[in-house]
Amino acid sequence: MSAVLAQSPVLRPMRMSEVKAIAAIERTVYSHPWTAGNFRDSLQAGYSCWVLECAGEIVAYGVLMIGVDEAHLLNLSVAKEWQRHGLGRQLLQDFIEIARRCDVQRIFLEVRPSNTAARALYRQTGFHEHAVRRSYYPAAVGREDAILMMRRLGGEQGEEGNR
Ligand SMILES: CC(C)(COP(=O)(O)OP(=O)(O)OC[C@H]1O[C@@H](n2cnc3c(N)ncnc32)[C@H](O)[C@@H]1OP(=O)(O)O)[C@@H](O)C(=O)NCCC(=O)NCCS
Repeated sequence: MSAVLAQSPVLRPMRMSEVKAIAAIERTVYSHPWTAGNFRDSLQAGYSCWVLECAGEIVAYGVLMIGVDEAHLLNLSVAKEWQRHGLGRQLLQDFIEIARRCDVQRIFLEVRPSNTAARALYRQTGFHEHAVRRSYYPAAVGREDAILMMRRLGGEQGEEGNR
């Protein structure tokens, strides 16, 4: 039987005290996970780090690096047991809204070509494939390319003219 969310998830800032717990989730969803230190560094660098919490449990989290005109989504993850409940889409929309409020014009992210679930989510959310970064990720054997995806923000015209 698939799990049911007890309450609507609430978006709140990630806390330094929970980077180990987040790294534990991370290890269950990635072959090459971020460490607690990566999340600590992101918080210390002032990146926009958020979690979705539901009934006291972190169900999703992510990290957005915001620059002057551009933002880079560095991490977007949903805990294994809560995947396919719409949380990835919800958190991605939250990050887009955060970026918009910071007057960001374009959001970039990298995704593995093999990550069909994430690529489908990003495409549905208005991202398009912008470039390929060769041998970007470590892989089980050798390295894997990254697809660099991009979405324009701003006026509706900007979002339609997404190239
Ligand atoms: C990718 C990820 C963030 C998606 O989050 P999610 O909460 O499971 O996805 P949602 O329920 O919000 O689904 C949104 C869309 O994503 C796509 N999707 C999600 N899971 C999918 C799957 N297993 N297979 C195919 N498409 C999938 C679908 O297009 C889906 O839309 P639909 O339900 O209308 O078909 C989540 O699977 C995850 O954390 N994966 C591991 C970490 C990761 O790969 N992060 C991205 C790194 S770039």
